[in-house]
Amino acid sequence: MTQPALSHDASPDLRAAFAAEVRAGLTHTPQKELPSKYLYDEVGSALFEVITVLPEYGVTRAEERLLAKHAADIVAHLPHDVTVAELGSGSGRKTRRILEALCKKRPTSYCPIEISRSALQLCRRELGDIERISIVGYERDYLAGLAEVSKQRATGERLLVLFLGSTIGNFGRLAATRFLRDIRNMLAPGDALLLGTDLIKPTPVLVAAYDDSIGVTASFNLNLLARINRELDGDFPLDAFEHVARFNPDARSIEMHLRAKRDITAHVGAAQLTVSLKAGETIWTESSHKYRAEEMPAIADDAGFVCSHQWIEEDWGFAESLLVAR
Ligand code: TRP
Repeated sequence: MTQPALSHDASPDLRAAFAAEVRAGLTHTPQKELPSKYLYDEVGSALFEVITVLPEYGVTRAEERLLAKHAADIVAHLPHDVTVAELGSGSGRKTRRILEALCKKRPTSYCPIEISRSALQLCRRELGDIERISIVGYERDYLAGLAEVSKQRATGERLLVLFLGSTIGNFGRLAATRFLRDIRNMLAPGDALLLGTDLIKPTPVLVAAYDDSIGVTASFNLNLLARINRELDGDFPLDAFEHVARFNPDARSIEMHLRAKRDITAHVGAAQLTVSLKAGETIWTESSHKYRAEEMPAIADDAGFVCSHQWIEEDWGFAESLLVAR
């Protein structure tokens, strides 16, 4: 029996791209994998909002505390007269403090860049009441959106790019530096990037943050297979998979997997794919790399920035680093 699709972006192109990536990932050897960006459909985005308020997941609250406490100081260290571009605005809740501090000084343009239209609408509603703000949303992926914002700015205007949360951690280490370099290449010397990083902490704390006691994170992860079933005519037996979060000490990352509890054969109609898993075999869905605050200056330097300032939340372990383009 087919279920009604929950997604509103049933565009044939997006569905074909999704099918192709699922096919590539599930035929990948030796480790089957699925791209983590597909975690965030309407159901997944709602589950992630719940993750951000779980007692075990301290990341979001730590960053909110940090930005609430230091917004004025952060703004004091920024170049004058900035246009703000945010990569992945989400609901916009944690950005509020910085924007308020900026708008107190002068009228400020804020350009959220988001592939999710509903997140853009949410953030417009959340932040639209700030005095002297003008919001122009870009429904694009990060780099395409940033290219456009950068092209449209007036001469003499500086750019401040916000890349908050711990999204940089979802890139591998090399890919993270490459991504920062791509950002740098769209900036002019003196432009700035405010970068959030979750810091390394004891393994049990890290594992619990990605495997909470009431199973929200497990549902968030499993929703990826449920989404494949809904949107790509899949028949994964969801009860035959379990969520696994484990620390990889070499990569200093938490790896998220979906593990088969028994031998499984499933089909994905839209990807013309039959896939078999042995009992115990996993599908890798996401990694979250953890950093030390002290390694940011070298990473910044590698990518063409100078790390000019850091603000650190010690209770949980989270850093906001200000990188200035050289
Ligand atoms: N960017 C978030 C992080 O790495 C994403 C995230 C939180 C996540 N919990 C998750 C991704 C569980 C996959 C599974 O902290």
